[in-house]
Amino acid sequence: MSSPFKIAVSEPIDDDAIKLLQKKGEVTVFKRGELKNRNKLIRVLKQSDAFLSMLSDKLDGEILSQAKNLIVIANYAVGYNNIDTEAAKKLGIHVANTPDVLTNATADLAVGLMIALARRFPAAEKYLREGKFNGWDPLGFRGIEISESSVGIIGMGRIGFAFANRVREFGAKIFYHNRKRVASETEEMVSAAYVPELEVMLSECDIISLHCPLTESTRHLINRDNIQRLKPHAILINTARGPVVDEEALAEALHKGNVGGAGFDVYEKEPEIHPKLLSAPNCILLPHIGSATWHARKKMGFLAAEAIINILDQKPREEIPNLIV
Ligand code: GLV
Ligand code: GLV
Repeated sequence: MSSPFKIAVSEPIDDDAIKLLQKKGEVTVFKRGELKNRNKLIRVLKQSDAFLSMLSDKLDGEILSQAKNLIVIANYAVGYNNIDTEAAKKLGIHVANTPDVLTNATADLAVGLMIALARRFPAAEKYLREGKFNGWDPLGFRGIEISESSVGIIGMGRIGFAFANRVREFGAKIFYHNRKRVASETEEMVSAAYVPELEVMLSECDIISLHCPLTESTRHLINRDNIQRLKPHAILINTARGPVVDEEALAEALHKGNVGGAGFDVYEKEPEIHPKLLSAPNCILLPHIGSATWHARKKMGFLAAEAIINILDQKPREEIPNLIV
């Protein structure tokens, strides 16, 4: 009899997903942080047939080439910039992610950040807690009215579309920039106008929300030059990936009042936050909680576990839609 599949799970996730995996093999769930040690991660991968990874697990070519038994990696995230997919492909290791199931949760978070910054929640709440609220103030805390503003979306994938769909309900003008123009029916559904030049969109929108993946072409897409194009009241929302923005340049612009505000859920050197960003005004900084709803996290667990099981069962790849490699 052949030995059972060895399945490693990078850190504790929803129990139901673990139970599903246990039907397929011998599952080891590591403690949070335990696989931060590169040598330990290599040792674990060498002995595993399948790995359920977190976006904090850096799975580069050197590590993957040592994982001689590894058949499949399922990344518990929609983004998979932490995995060298080219190397995985060469080595014959399959890679899956968890798209769709976290689209609504992430779009909701971006909308929340947008409203909170447009209406100045952080400063207004601080004012109240500091005991400064002395009654309704006709001049107090005026912010941006979403329905009167132009919202620019960078990256019109599933999450960008879901964000646009929500913003449409507010009555804002919607623009988007994407590698390629999307189908005209898609544009019409959310009343979004394509802007081929990023620079133009940045200089004309009041609110910019990032929804692109991190790739070599989107790294520092929002760089020092582009930041200078933003309107002084503009709000930048990033629920995508930290390195899309030059964090230091943005923090400096916030300090100088050249940009109105920033709502970030992701960071360039996660989990480190640039000290200038921490001290910048009009920022909401969240600890990467885009997909953190009970619903999304449960679905992500299932999707990742099912991909592992289907690959180990040698199902045809057409039957595994969330397979990247
Ligand atoms: C989270 O950031 C994800 O990519 O799922
Ligand atoms: C994620 O689901 C995306 O493609 O935007």
